[in-house]
Amino acid sequence: MKKKILVLGAYGFLGSSLCPILKKFGFEIIKHGRNKESETNFNMSDLSDVQRSLKILNPDVIINLIAFTNVDECEKNKNKAEMANVKVVKILTKAIKNVSMKNNLHLIHISTDQVYNGRGLHTEEDAEPINFYGKSKYMGEKEASKIGSTILRVNFIGKSNKAGKKSLSDWIVESLREKKKINVFKDVIFSPLHISNLCKNIMVVVEKQLSGIFNLGSCNGMSKAEFAFQLSKLLNLDENLINPVNLKQVKLTADRPLNMQMNVKKYEKMFKVSLDDVKEQIILTANDYK
Ligand SMILES: NC(=O)c1ccc[n+]([C@@H]2O[C@H](COP(=O)([O-])OP(=O)(O)OC[C@H]3O[C@@H](n4cnc5c(N)ncnc54)[C@H](OP(=O)(O)O)[C@@H]3O)[C@@H](O)[C@H]2O)c1
Repeated sequence: MKKKILVLGAYGFLGSSLCPILKKFGFEIIKHGRNKESETNFNMSDLSDVQRSLKILNPDVIINLIAFTNVDECEKNKNKAEMANVKVVKILTKAIKNVSMKNNLHLIHISTDQVYNGRGLHTEEDAEPINFYGKSKYMGEKEASKIGSTILRVNFIGKSNKAGKKSLSDWIVESLREKKKINVFKDVIFSPLHISNLCKNIMVVVEKQLSGIFNLGSCNGMSKAEFAFQLSKLLNLDENLINPVNLKQVKLTADRPLNMQMNVKKYEKMFKVSLDDVKEQIILTANDYK
């Protein structure tokens, strides 16, 4: 029998791509959001409401995508960031412990490469967040690891299906199509997966349910400027509009790590999966806009 999966934060950027894919592969999905229109909208800051809802819904797997992800806004509004990125996870793990109607109820918690700083490739032990978004996500990981969960540190690219939320590639493609100049960091390195590949790997985790912290990205990385150049080439856009800049040249509220490139060998070994090159992810991203 296919597993019943409760997706928290299902109406966000990642959730809007993940839920249809999980459904397509035959999983039973329950989508949690904060709106009245959401399939379920219990209050994640109320332990008894969460416990009551988990008892009724009785999922086999919970995937937690809830987060406050705007890096600069997290710095300005630490309470809001702490609520979404730490307290919600604390309440969730407490509720799972208290209810635990299914012995094998498994939590998959999504975290971020923003927990890293300094020289990459980063292994899972390297976490050293430098902004409040990264710090709060790291604290959230600590809460999630109190129960046997899978914590995935990710970064992803591709077209956003969430109304009102633009992805990195949405911003690049829209700006270049509108003939606008953009500043893109040439010294910020990341190793993202295309969102479809991330979703497929989350399905692997749903099936295998191995506990621990895992980096999940492409097997190598590149700078954001290089990413923009390669994407624009594949879409025949004007690359002269891309202005490669250093992080220091741009004034931002929160500090940013320069190198978030992840070593994904632990994930590959444990889940017996081979992760693709970042160039493959750019080809998939370009296809989103054709
Ligand atoms: N986007 C990226 O590039 C990226 C990169 C690395 C890691 N990640 C991680 O990937 C995961 C998913 O990110 P995403 O881009 O899909 O984020 P997103 O689009 O901002 O979605 C997050 C969802 O969480 C919900 N939420 C926020 N605070 C909440 C609260 N206090 N109670 C209940 N729900 C709340 C939001 O609801 P509303 O819609 O009602 O606000 C939203 O639907 C996160 O863990 C994030 O840290 C993202």
